[in-house]
Amino acid sequence: MNNRPINFVLSLADTKAMSQYDTHSVRRLSSMADYYLDQAAFEALLAQDDLILYEVYGIDRPAVSGELISGITVLHAGKVGQEYFMTKGHFHAVLETGEIYYALRGTGMMVMETPEGECSVEPFAAGQVVYVPPCWAHRTINTGNNDLLFFWVCPAAAGHDYGTIAKHGFRKLVMATEEGSTIMANPRWSPR
Ligand code: F6R
Ligand code: ZN
Repeated sequence: MNNRPINFVLSLADTKAMSQYDTHSVRRLSSMADYYLDQAAFEALLAQDDLILYEVYGIDRPAVSGELISGITVLHAGKVGQEYFMTKGHFHAVLETGEIYYALRGTGMMVMETPEGECSVEPFAAGQVVYVPPCWAHRTINTGNNDLLFFWVCPAAAGHDYGTIAKHGFRKLVMATEEGSTIMANPRWSPR
């Protein structure tokens, strides 16, 4: 990997939104067993199709101090029961690393929390930037009817801790109701 500047185009019209990328990962429904509240709805949907829930395109850089990684996530629209399609969510392995998220297309929310239990649920629709401070776990939720597409940048050495959220969950969930979206306490959340 060289140390030359990188120049790419973010195209809002395409699902494959980056003109250049090094990595492309796909998250299917089957990789998110136990993440959704309504287990029966999860099983029923999975029995129909192992849908792609989201895709991540990234520019790879060495995982050393000073380097940044960036990319685009395309989070598709849909629900498992009354719960919107969402990312797994994670803490950074190096807990004290922040991240910038910039929504390019679509409508959603960012659910964030600290290990001490401070919570924040921020609107995240096209044009909005969310700064995820160091130590905050973060998950993106698509509350709309179309793809939610966003650009993100974080230190290349941040790494990902998925295990804590996979095991304990986020304290807050965003669910669809007749009136729109509602934030509720996660009944399956468990203390560490
Ligand atoms: C990187 C980051 C994003 C997410 C991506 C998918 O630190 O926060 O690139 O990785 O939006 O979400 P997860 O990783 O939670 O499946
Ligand atoms: Zn992150």
